[in-house]
Amino acid sequence: MVLQLAPEEKKMLNGEYGKAAQKSMEIIIALGEIYGAKRLIPVSSVQIAGVSYDNLGEAGLEYLSEMAEDGQTRVLTTLNPAGMDMVEWKKHGISRDFAKNQQRVVDAFERMGVVTTCTCTPYLIGNLPHYGEHIAWAESSAVCFANSVIGAYTNREGGPSALAAALTGVTAEYGFHLDENRVAQVKYEIQAELKGTNDFGLLGQVIGNRTGKAIPYITGVKKVTTEELKSFSASIATYGGIAIFHMEGITPNRTTVPEKTEVVTKKDLRRAKTELDDDEAEIDFISVGCPHASIKEIAEIANMLKGKTVAEGKTVWITTAKPTKDLAIKMGYYDQIEQAGAYLVADACCAVAPLKGRFKGLMTDSAKACFYARGKNKFKTEIRTVEECIREALS
Ligand code: F3S
Repeated sequence: MVLQLAPEEKKMLNGEYGKAAQKSMEIIIALGEIYGAKRLIPVSSVQIAGVSYDNLGEAGLEYLSEMAEDGQTRVLTTLNPAGMDMVEWKKHGISRDFAKNQQRVVDAFERMGVVTTCTCTPYLIGNLPHYGEHIAWAESSAVCFANSVIGAYTNREGGPSALAAALTGVTAEYGFHLDENRVAQVKYEIQAELKGTNDFGLLGQVIGNRTGKAIPYITGVKKVTTEELKSFSASIATYGGIAIFHMEGITPNRTTVPEKTEVVTKKDLRRAKTELDDDEAEIDFISVGCPHASIKEIAEIANMLKGKTVAEGKTVWITTAKPTKDLAIKMGYYDQIEQAGAYLVADACCAVAPLKGRFKGLMTDSAKACFYARGKNKFKTEIRTVEECIREALS
């Protein structure tokens, strides 16, 4: 074995801390050896993906139950969205059978000490690493946000490797844990004005499709909100498999500036939009909150829906994290949204909930949601601003 193990890590590998820790250590070492890591490093937080029963199935649940027999988390660990709102699932049309199985999944995580709040924006609800911190996160949009916007260090973990990091508190040092693998490779000059989460989603789509895993250095973005950065992170990770980007004047990581330069124009963004807009999409589902909506986004949507009524035949989901939903309840936003006939859905999202066959066409502000709506659920899609999505819901 080339990997150097600390005494504590050797004990875990020898089974002195139980079967789950031993299996986890084996997974981490195997990955480390594949990717040429020399040592394991501590992580301070973990985010686990592969939580929806719709994706996991019985085989995945069996694995989790086995790990939960004696596995215990050693660091702060949160979960990606599940397939349903863990409290209000019934009114969203989720079947009792699915709910039972989804609960079994979350229970297994809870037995291991995982904080069972299910969200792809853990950084908005208390799982917030600082600059330079090593973490092991699995959700691709959150990985991209953490590496790029926060300046933390994480690979894009799979479900089992993230769980393994949670149960051991370490990961193998390779990939994006090393500074030399975080250097920008292609410069993108943005020659277009960008506004809103949909525009930043389209930008992520354009660069993601073009960059072929090369790390982008983006110039020309003068102003951007946290919500737009989370949308961009989700989109560039979805369309390009990108786990880190640099944005001049915005993101904190140091890098050299690449000479190779590409230009992104208004025309490129228009073309990307045309690609996501299906002809004759019959919109019966409107979903905003991919990645999960912040309290600011919810407040704006609540204001747009206040005193109005969602049109017949349309279903509206605003998806968010449970702590954010609780805050929205406290602030009266939940009532404004739900009294209009829309749903504020916690813990889940339109991509991982069991929605196949339930709708014909999705309108959303998220380029990532369009990708999964088409690929997984076979919905037609249209990408619009949040305001346009709400207008469609009311018309
Ligand atoms: Fe999050 Fe689901 Fe979108 S996991 S990034 S809301 S597809």
